[in-house]
Amino acid sequence: MILIMLTVCLLITSGVLLVIWYYYHVKNERYLSQFPGPKPLPLVGNALPFSSAEKIIPAMLEMEKKFGKTFRLYFAIEPNVMMGDSKSLEFLLSSNSIIDKSATYDYFNRWLGTGLLTSTGEKWRKYRKTLTPAFHFQILEQFMDVFNSTTDILIEKLSKNIDKPDVDIYPFIQLCALDVICESSMGTCINAQLESNSKYVKSVKEMARIVIERGFSPIQMFETLYKFTYNYYLELRSLKVLHNFSMGVIQNRKSLLENEKVQDDIDDFGIKKRLTFLDILLKSKVDGKPIPDVCIREEVDTFMFAGHDTTSSAITFTLYCLSNHQEIQQKVIDELKEIYNNDWNRPICYRDLQSMKYLESVIKESLRLYPPVPLIGRQAINDVEYDNKIIPKGTMINVFIYGVHRNPDFFPDPLTFKPDRFKSENTISNQNPYAYIPFSAGTRNCIGQKFAMLEIKATVSKILRHFELFETKPRHQVQLTVESILKSNNGVKMSIRKRKLE
Ligand code: HEM
Repeated sequence: MILIMLTVCLLITSGVLLVIWYYYHVKNERYLSQFPGPKPLPLVGNALPFSSAEKIIPAMLEMEKKFGKTFRLYFAIEPNVMMGDSKSLEFLLSSNSIIDKSATYDYFNRWLGTGLLTSTGEKWRKYRKTLTPAFHFQILEQFMDVFNSTTDILIEKLSKNIDKPDVDIYPFIQLCALDVICESSMGTCINAQLESNSKYVKSVKEMARIVIERGFSPIQMFETLYKFTYNYYLELRSLKVLHNFSMGVIQNRKSLLENEKVQDDIDDFGIKKRLTFLDILLKSKVDGKPIPDVCIREEVDTFMFAGHDTTSSAITFTLYCLSNHQEIQQKVIDELKEIYNNDWNRPICYRDLQSMKYLESVIKESLRLYPPVPLIGRQAINDVEYDNKIIPKGTMINVFIYGVHRNPDFFPDPLTFKPDRFKSENTISNQNPYAYIPFSAGTRNCIGQKFAMLEIKATVSKILRHFELFETKPRHQVQLTVESILKSNNGVKMSIRKRKLE
């Protein structure tokens, strides 16, 4: 009897789900069928080839091969349009109205609130304007001592791994990047490299893991069901640590400012003090009023998230490319010798980083092949007309940056690592500003890109001054996975030796 009742319930539920799916599918397909794309299955749509983080890249490349750079697909009832050719990218990324982020970003809501990455409309516009001066070069120049002190610890940590045949470099870089962003955004040292088990570091990692898992779990994807899972409990626990920490730092910094201890930018010895991103937020006004603490916290947390995993990925893959290309590594060393010849171990200064032109091409080429943010998404909050077709309200409009960067029209021999593609400043961006977009483009591009470039140069150049990097034997093949950020499932391995200058 119970079995019969269960079967009936199951049939009714499946029937209801099928009707809902059919209703939405027919409604959206009326417009989206004008785009090429795979035939969707009932209920799951085209989600099956994307069932885990490591399947995303091969599945997307396969679809691009079959349907071209711009096509439609469905994740269950959710309609998606992928845009990847220059015309559609220009349309999307230069738009001032399609600026809302796709539903995937909602998983960050409890952590980041409506910080710059996730906000939209007037709030986003006002805060983007307020925060832009925080990335002025005069502010960025002040972070050199942060780069120097954090990379000193990194070198010490890596020195313990000299001559080992296959060192996974990623965890070292990730902790270093966490130290860098925490000190630059909040002026607080969390010593992630020295205390990797601290509650704060663990909570950042826990949150990143949960957000990814939710994206692939048919249960956790739905907010109501998610609230019954163990991950929800872990999320609340981590958020308590993260929010208490940022709020504590904000209060502390605020009372220092109020007590006039850091009121002006000059200390008691007449030396210019470093202004962190937090100080700038505390000194800023929106609509003539100071920014509320909770909004400051959202921005600080956003910088913490957006500014550490991205740079970790970029630094790690640049080192990986260099370990696999000795002749290119040597050219970087030749450039560094010109800059540091008289004093190989001296601290990094801003001018040094500006002079590292060849290293910049190396980093750009690595960002091309391994873009740290391989996929971004927007959402149509109204019907959108594109190319005489209608993209209905509610559709997610995504860009597969990884695929954009492998277009042979702009990058001949696209799978080969060739930094000289970026030798002349103008080559690619002047041909087409949407062909190379590791930091996205247009209105919602990355606000932290200049900071990121400085940090990547500072870290990679410091490592190269101390170590020679070699590929493992046989060469380690990275297994790419899209966990919001591009990572490798099997680590990013190489062997390192102490560098001896002749
Ligand atoms: C190599 C390093 C980095 C890469 C590849 C990168 C890439 C990107 C991309 C592709 C976007 C657009 C995201 C979207 O459309 O959803 C973005 C936005 C953003 N990034 Fe970065 N990023 C990097 C480093 C940083 C750093 C260091 C910071 C902060 C210090 C930062 C802060 C942000 C913020 C706040 C946004 C949102 C901007 C807005 O919507 O106005 N990023 N980044």
